Amino acid sequence: MTTQNPFVALKEEMDNLVVGHEEVKVALLLGIISREHIYIEGPPGTAKTMLAEIVSGAASLRFFFYQLHRDTRLSELIGDLVISKETTDNGEIIKQKVVKGGILTSEICLLDDISRAPGESLNVLLRILNERKFFNENIPLLTAIGTSNPTADEYYNEPLDPANLDRFVLQINSQGLSYGRKWDEAKKVIKLYSERSSDYEVPARVSREVFDEYFEKLGSVDIPLVVQETLAKFVATLIEDYGCNETNSLISDRTFFVKSLKIMRAHALLNDRDHCTTEDLNALKYMTAFRVPEEVFQQLDQILDDLTSKKKKTGTDRVS
Ligand SMILES: Nc1ncnc2c1ncn2[C@@H]1O[C@H](COP(=O)(O)OP(=O)(O)O)[C@@H](O)[C@H]1O
Ligand SMILES: [Mg+2]
Repeated sequence: MTTQNPFVALKEEMDNLVVGHEEVKVALLLGIISREHIYIEGPPGTAKTMLAEIVSGAASLRFFFYQLHRDTRLSELIGDLVISKETTDNGEIIKQKVVKGGILTSEICLLDDISRAPGESLNVLLRILNERKFFNENIPLLTAIGTSNPTADEYYNEPLDPANLDRFVLQINSQGLSYGRKWDEAKKVIKLYSERSSDYEVPARVSREVFDEYFEKLGSVDIPLVVQETLAKFVATLIEDYGCNETNSLISDRTFFVKSLKIMRAHALLNDRDHCTTEDLNALKYMTAFRVPEEVFQQLDQILDDLTSKKKKTGTDRVS
């Protein structure tokens, strides 16, 4: 592949307006390329909504935003509930129908405070996100971004249970600049807003057809044996050497042996390659934030480095 891939333009738009948050930016790109959902945990005011809006604008994707709350009803998420009254020979009939909207018609959606929705609505919502179907009809959704605020009152904010959390293949812990002590980036935000008016409109730079084209390519990205074996070794290492087990981790076979391949392939496309290299194992970082204990997550770069440099020494793979 020689021409610049279209995701560079999306990254540019995000970089133009949002300082830092590299991981959230890459996760958003991987999410729309692979059509997997993203879970972002982070405090309010750290540009989560803004980044999702920039991507949808720059990628000309239909966007739906919803702030979930304790009384969220499913009908608020899937469109408008219309009630009509008909007079028939047998009397009046009250009819209820859904005019589709919300998550049923959007291509990218942001569901803020996802775990706040009451169980009944949340279950149906997650089922729709999962199956990408409403009754028997396919929905056009590429990626749902669920957010959660870690500092919120626990009483209102129970975390998603593991089975639901696992459906969000990409997972990011986003601290924000202040709590992340990123003072240089903080200065850049202040500079940005000191020098520029905030009414910049994000131009549409990539069309839906391009995403469809790349989604087609995704399946044919080659994954060489050395990458397959290093992935297997990675999971074995987490469990054998780093104490991950079913009580402290969420290492499902589906996520690590099936979904991870999609994310690694998306990572290869993002880097202009039509085949994976061990470099793409770095994409596993975007999947593990809430799947392994925090102290293991902090060592992830090292773990991946050790695994891939061992492979490099054997000379069986070239890491670009
Ligand atoms: N890293 C950043 N770079 C640029 N602007 C930022 C950054 N973090 C916060 N902001 C500003 O703060 C606002 C709050 O963002 P918002 O996307 O609503 O946060 P969240 O959805 O995380 O609560 C943004 O619209 C932007 O003006
Ligand atoms: Mg927000």
